[in-house]
Amino acid sequence: MCGIVGYIGRREAAPIIVEGLKKLEYRGYDSFGVATINGCIELDKHQGRISDSSSSTVNLKGKIGIGHTRWATHGVPNDVNAHPHMDCNNRIAVVHNGIIENYAELKRQLVSRGHVFRSETDTEVVAHLIEDAYEKEEDLLSAVQKVVPRLTGSYALLVIASNEDRIIVARYASPLVLGVGDGEFFAASDMTPIIDYTERAIFLEDGDVASLTQDEIEIFHEGKRVTRPLELIDWSGEDTKKGGFPHYMLKEIYEQPQAFYNTVRSVTAETLPVSVKNAESVTIIACGSSYNAGLIIKYILENTCAIPVRLEFASEFKYFPPPIRGLVIGISQSGETADTITAIKQAKAHNCTSLAITNVLASSISRTADCTLFMRAGPEISVAATKSFIAQLAVLMQITSFLRNGEFDDILRSGHRAIEEVLLIDLSDAVSLCINAHSIFYVGRGPFYPVSLEGSLKMKEISYIHAEGYAAGELKHGPFALLSPETPVIAICMPGETYGVMISNIKEMKARGAPVIAIGEEGDLELPEVADIFIPLPVTHPLIQVLTSLIVLQLLAYYTAVSLNRDVDKPRNLAKSVTVE
Ligand code: F6R
Repeated sequence: MCGIVGYIGRREAAPIIVEGLKKLEYRGYDSFGVATINGCIELDKHQGRISDSSSSTVNLKGKIGIGHTRWATHGVPNDVNAHPHMDCNNRIAVVHNGIIENYAELKRQLVSRGHVFRSETDTEVVAHLIEDAYEKEEDLLSAVQKVVPRLTGSYALLVIASNEDRIIVARYASPLVLGVGDGEFFAASDMTPIIDYTERAIFLEDGDVASLTQDEIEIFHEGKRVTRPLELIDWSGEDTKKGGFPHYMLKEIYEQPQAFYNTVRSVTAETLPVSVKNAESVTIIACGSSYNAGLIIKYILENTCAIPVRLEFASEFKYFPPPIRGLVIGISQSGETADTITAIKQAKAHNCTSLAITNVLASSISRTADCTLFMRAGPEISVAATKSFIAQLAVLMQITSFLRNGEFDDILRSGHRAIEEVLLIDLSDAVSLCINAHSIFYVGRGPFYPVSLEGSLKMKEISYIHAEGYAAGELKHGPFALLSPETPVIAICMPGETYGVMISNIKEMKARGAPVIAIGEEGDLELPEVADIFIPLPVTHPLIQVLTSLIVLQLLAYYTAVSLNRDVDKPRNLAKSVTVE
């Protein structure tokens, strides 16, 4: 978590860094700060969000600077713990994304040598370690090169010194991309702060240290000069803006037809790895929404292809690894989720073949896994996953179709049309019911059970209303005790084998006083009778109904959260990429 931005060039650095940090706030937003070089180091840092602030930060002077937006791990969010952090003499400034695991021991050593610490952060040790190394040779590059081998944990670091016209950057297990402009260079946690200025990017490898001056980038690995390929990024600056929508989340929900269409077309017989084509069993490892996508696909793969699928929370897998073999798929939209990356490494250590499914080019998971399928969702800024979720399903459904000799190809290729239709459904009655709810249950059967898990996750994370997803048949084994007129149930009830039993479940819930919102197929005559509110979805293939029902639940969570005045794009306590265990 945390976002970092650096700039060196002919322009004033602070305004560019401030704008860049606003775009990275999805990574953390409890405090922010910027440091520039203007003869000495000018520093400005504050508790709170840079996007809410009319602060002085943007007025810092200098054409070299670094900045940070924070998601607190070590030390409460306040002005002092905000980055950048400085050495004792205010000659060196550091911003950091990641965690220095051995900071306590390093801090003890530094304090015993007379260093004075101001903050409670792990990061501050880096500034003091560099101070020691810098005193000996007054060369920032070599000081950083000496310090990074002493750090355990993860880091993307940007470092400046008051009397050097450059930024030194270093990366290990935290993302860092360099933007290559004309006579100017950028460094950031991802491309979103950079894409307005240049589409040329260099992704650093774990262990790389680089020096950025106005004229060149020099990259070093274990002390030796290396080159890394220059990549062209096909995102546009517009992709990272709200484009007239009140929130990124709504914009991203509306981008789902395109995200689905583009991703479906990108997964072809040619792009599918051989390990997928020959898979006899699959283990899927993921967290949060990505786990829910994995559970949807478990139902689909097992039922249509008879391939056994094991699904594991990445956070559990590390400590309680089950016996696994065959293909292991790690799903992570950000590509940076620490638990999922660790689990992939463990799977590789067990000689499994690993496939990553991610939305972010050159992300850590794609570097770790044996092969990667990239979604084509474009940048997702809102903390709650929406279009990346639909794109994950697009990849996984295409795999299913391939394994069934193309059976679902046509259905998937036209799936975006039904997705477009549901964006326009009126949900005002359902929203009115939800905003007064004390708690909401979501139920479904088969793949609609994980759809209900995902719907409830969206509701709780952005509206702060307690919501639980359940397999519909499970509700009577305990949760029925909670049903009341203040506890609505959202039931996904599509035609098919489980339709009859779902209708019975709905009646049982109604009999216990719970208002029911039913999501079903257009033309259904029974659901409007048994449910309080009926939300009809277009008649389409069951695979696509998984997507359309999901999108309705995303919209329901969105409009409920807006009605409750919640901070939809940046819900409290959360961050988009969870790079800590
Ligand atoms: C919820 C959400 C999270 C993520 C989870 C895993 O809306 O976005 O639950 O799905 O943190 O993130 P990734 O997919 O980046 O590994």
